[in-house]
Amino acid sequence: MSASRFNFVPSSHGPPLSIARAEGAWLETTDGQRILDAAGGAIMVNVGHGRREVIDAMTRTLERVTYAVPVFATEERERLVERLIDRWLPGDLARVYLTSGGSESVDAALRLARQHHVAAGRPERWKILGRDLSYHGTTLATLAAGGHEKRRAPFGPLLLDFPKAPACYCLRCPLGREYPECRVACADAVEEVLLREGPETVAAFIAEPVVGSTAGAVDPPPEYWPAVVEVCRRHGVLVIADEVMTGFGRTGRRFGVEHWDVVPDILVGGKGLAGGYAPLGAVFASEAVLEPLAQKGDELMYYTYGGHPSACAAADAVLEILEREDLVRRAADLGARLRKALEPLEDHPNVAQVRGLGLLQAVELVRDRETLEPFPAEVGMAMRVVVQGLVRGAFFYPGGCGPARDVVCLGPPFIIGDEELELIARILPEAIDAAVASADR
Ligand SMILES: Cc1ncc(COP(=O)(O)O)c(C=O)c1O
Repeated sequence: MSASRFNFVPSSHGPPLSIARAEGAWLETTDGQRILDAAGGAIMVNVGHGRREVIDAMTRTLERVTYAVPVFATEERERLVERLIDRWLPGDLARVYLTSGGSESVDAALRLARQHHVAAGRPERWKILGRDLSYHGTTLATLAAGGHEKRRAPFGPLLLDFPKAPACYCLRCPLGREYPECRVACADAVEEVLLREGPETVAAFIAEPVVGSTAGAVDPPPEYWPAVVEVCRRHGVLVIADEVMTGFGRTGRRFGVEHWDVVPDILVGGKGLAGGYAPLGAVFASEAVLEPLAQKGDELMYYTYGGHPSACAAADAVLEILEREDLVRRAADLGARLRKALEPLEDHPNVAQVRGLGLLQAVELVRDRETLEPFPAEVGMAMRVVVQGLVRGAFFYPGGCGPARDVVCLGPPFIIGDEELELIARILPEAIDAAVASADR
């Protein structure tokens, strides 16, 4: 198919990559090229592509029920909710609301936070405190809560002017400090922004436990999350952990927040929940968050496709595989090994940092590793690396924004073997060298 008909926005890009099959950690194009899916799709394929039991579970469901409104129970919805509550959700998170994706889930979480305060008699709490260098989705509310300047730019007047705390990004600390002498000043800055705004006007604080593709797998110092949770609790502000990318084992724990032993009031999941097999997202909350709504008889409005039965069947089967094959632990082990294999890149003249947790890893690219000067924006360095990776048979995930202009993310399925791990570690440096050479020409 020609690019002009396939692309929604007509552009000068060539024809799209056309995928004929996907199996395990591999994609195969219609012209027979095999590509290692080192990004796990959009960093969500965890049990691998094409698992027969997931497909069978979806098929069995569709043969019985193709649709039921989200407020009706079906066998697979109930099974999934039980599994999540009994085996997956941290702490006192025990309420499950199903959607059909990450943006929808974050949007619902923001509505839930607002409804919680309104129902509890605190209608003055409406602001969502976000952070610079973050991403929470493509709806207008989630863009407003996020700090992805490039994606927000065209929508300025449509976005509510929510306050932002500085990013927790040690490589180029926005506060000009250095860890550990800084004593995690970026956590104190969350409280400073709250006090400036008037904490009684703030409904919730939202953040990704490990920043995803916006800044490239930025994991915070160990003190950060416990400190911000304490600050928020002290000021009556709900904590929302956006685990759309980090959830369901990606960082080597079931959820990112478990690295720091904190439990948010609301946790948002998507991507890995159904492992790429079906559109599904979810909002998880504590009883205490739902209590005021229950008292008033309020509901959280549903999406027509929320928790589709076949998507729930897929998620239940994906989670069952993660449990049975101990894949969360494997993601932690493979993450450590992948990092070790990428060690040579730490000395590369165009690599500022290799970072991440578990199987969410990223490489930040710069023109000069001493000064951290980025490549000019028009060079599009991250995308060049992705193109060079594809030429060599591996798909990496491009990202970056603001000071972290060019990042290349890795998020392979948790089932990759030694050979695939070595291939990633071989192809990525080659792709970086070729991309840099192409920009110099
Ligand atoms: C942290 C985070 N939140 C929300 C989203 C939006 O999810 P979706 O693309 O499924 O709408 C993403 C997508 O990348 C994400 O990484």
